[in-house]
Amino acid sequence: MEIMKPRMVLLEKKICLGIESTAHTFGVGIVDSKGKVIADKRISFLSDGGIRPQEAAKKHLDNAPKIIKEALDEAKIKISDCDIVSFARGPGLGPCLKVGATCARAIALKNGKPLIPVNHCLAHIEIGKLETKAKDPLIVYVSGGNTQIISFKDGAYRVFGETLDIGLGNMLDSFGRALGYGFPAGPTLDEIYFRGKKYLFLPYTVKGTDLAFAGLETAAKRLVGKTNKENLVFSTLHNAFAMLTEATERALAYTEKTEVLLVGGVAASKALRNIMFKMCISRNTKFLVPQNKFCVDNGVMIAWLGILEYLYGKKTEIGSSQIKQRMRLEEEKILWA
Ligand code: ATP
Ligand code: FE2
Repeated sequence: MEIMKPRMVLLEKKICLGIESTAHTFGVGIVDSKGKVIADKRISFLSDGGIRPQEAAKKHLDNAPKIIKEALDEAKIKISDCDIVSFARGPGLGPCLKVGATCARAIALKNGKPLIPVNHCLAHIEIGKLETKAKDPLIVYVSGGNTQIISFKDGAYRVFGETLDIGLGNMLDSFGRALGYGFPAGPTLDEIYFRGKKYLFLPYTVKGTDLAFAGLETAAKRLVGKTNKENLVFSTLHNAFAMLTEATERALAYTEKTEVLLVGGVAASKALRNIMFKMCISRNTKFLVPQNKFCVDNGVMIAWLGILEYLYGKKTEIGSSQIKQRMRLEEEKILWA
């Protein structure tokens, strides 16, 4: 990838079509360079078990033409009216990533448009900043595969703390599966949480600003069928969210940031928001979180990051637009913050 000087086109409106397909959701977003969302269409893969990559990719492929057309119809534009095409290049599941990448390359090639492959994790952060107008927040990114506490410094996002084993969302989905709920179980558990009455003692693992969820998951699963379900869900989620909030508070004290921005699929959790909000109030810190629909995976965040990267001069040839199943946030050069 080549990085050039910012393009001097900020006054001229540009439109980007972005495609998300890293895991369970095939999403198409159309956004303009002022940050206006013109279209947002998506379809999510639901299942009785976890995500099976080949099966999810097949669903994405079957749905892609329909979702792209629906997004263009919603925006009332033709595909040739889009100035930029972006897609989530990673991190994610190989077969799923390939579907979005192939669609984006085909659209870009056929219409002679620039192609911008973007980092899915960075897209979660940038849509959160756009939505909440956060300035320089401590970012808490919690999704299926990721649990990170992030701080921006000298042109890059630095991971200040993270899970040492599994992502918080994956833990919730796996625990939910043991209770008999389909994928994703996070939203169901989040409802049940509020019906719990009694706290059960369960593992709580925080190491500085790092966290570990596997012990909590194992202990919680061992209690399935042996105790009241609502109390078990309440206690498991309470520990997981309190652990994350404790690590966030420690990072806040160190970085002296005055805003916390919660992003990623698990940021849609009412229970987590409540706990995080209370901590922020007690520290006189602003608590910011995007609307639910922009917490979970979506094409809008990919389109918005496509706009940012294009305007700040990133350029990728089709031949070097390979997907990347693993990508680290720290490796991204942030030119706009
Ligand atoms: P990433 O690559 O960012 O890890 P992902 O594939 O995990 O993405 P997201 O949509 O960012 O996808 O996050 C999905 C996760 O969010 C799932 O684990 C799901 O259970 C969880 N989730 C979604 N809504 C809620 C909710 N209301 N409460 C708790 N968890 C939720
Ligand atoms: Fe995600």
